[in-house]
Amino acid sequence: MRFDVISLFPAMFAALQHGITGRAFTQGLAELVLWNPRDYAINAHGQVDDRPYGGGPGMLMRYEPLAAAIQAARSAAPGGQVLYLSPQGEPFTQNAARQFAQCDSLILLAGRYEGIDERLLTTQVDTVWSVGDYVVSGGELPAMLIIDSIIRLLPGALGHTESARQDSFSTELLDHPHYTRPAVIADQAVPDILLSGDHARIRRWRLQQALGRTWQQRPDLIQQCTLSDEEQTLLAEFISNTTKSP
Ligand SMILES: C[S@@+](CC[C@H](N)C(=O)[O-])C[C@H]1O[C@@H](n2cnc3c(N)ncnc32)[C@H](O)[C@@H]1O
Repeated sequence: MRFDVISLFPAMFAALQHGITGRAFTQGLAELVLWNPRDYAINAHGQVDDRPYGGGPGMLMRYEPLAAAIQAARSAAPGGQVLYLSPQGEPFTQNAARQFAQCDSLILLAGRYEGIDERLLTTQVDTVWSVGDYVVSGGELPAMLIIDSIIRLLPGALGHTESARQDSFSTELLDHPHYTRPAVIADQAVPDILLSGDHARIRRWRLQQALGRTWQQRPDLIQQCTLSDEEQTLLAEFISNTTKSP
């Protein structure tokens, strides 16, 4: 899958060269192409920004350099949707990552300053995505979050394909707790069941923990779930154990 990113700070994307995303690039599962709007600046000073009409603080990214960079990316990767990163966008979710992982290519536009000229949104951008209800200084980190979450879902990107299936949100639930060696540390022992070798009981325990954890941490998610009979029983048991008076 190909990612074209339009950013004033392309060097930031070196962070993606590590770990799972880095390996996906090396293996040819994913490709990252960076476009700097500075290369399409409106003058020899490299100007890409300007003051907002109507006054007010900060600068805005001008239309022409971004439109030209988008055009160049579209020509190099025809058919790719243009995604703009903005705190005003639709909240990005695992479902969105799953859908985008089906695409051959995507073009991501990272804003800076106070954002971009509104006319880019209406003429050049297909969809707008937010990574949360907070504001960061540029669209680079949000773009990297989105790219990383998509790459994890590409077939062959994870060493162990089960990992993506167990991740939080891959079902409607949060992930269950995990433990590794040693079996006891800081006076805390690994739950006996995980040492039992009984895979059927371990599966039930993990499912119950995932249900319970989602019920505790994200009641909004559990309310949207359609639970099987087994899941309802396991959750009821978890709730009863948790709410029992000592
Ligand atoms: C300082 S922000 C501008 C925020 C803008 N004035 C607003 O309030 O909507 C600069 C850039 O960072 C990116 N950005 C900031 N927060 C973001 C978020 N939560 N999700 C996605 N992109 C974000 C956008 O690309 C934005 O153009």
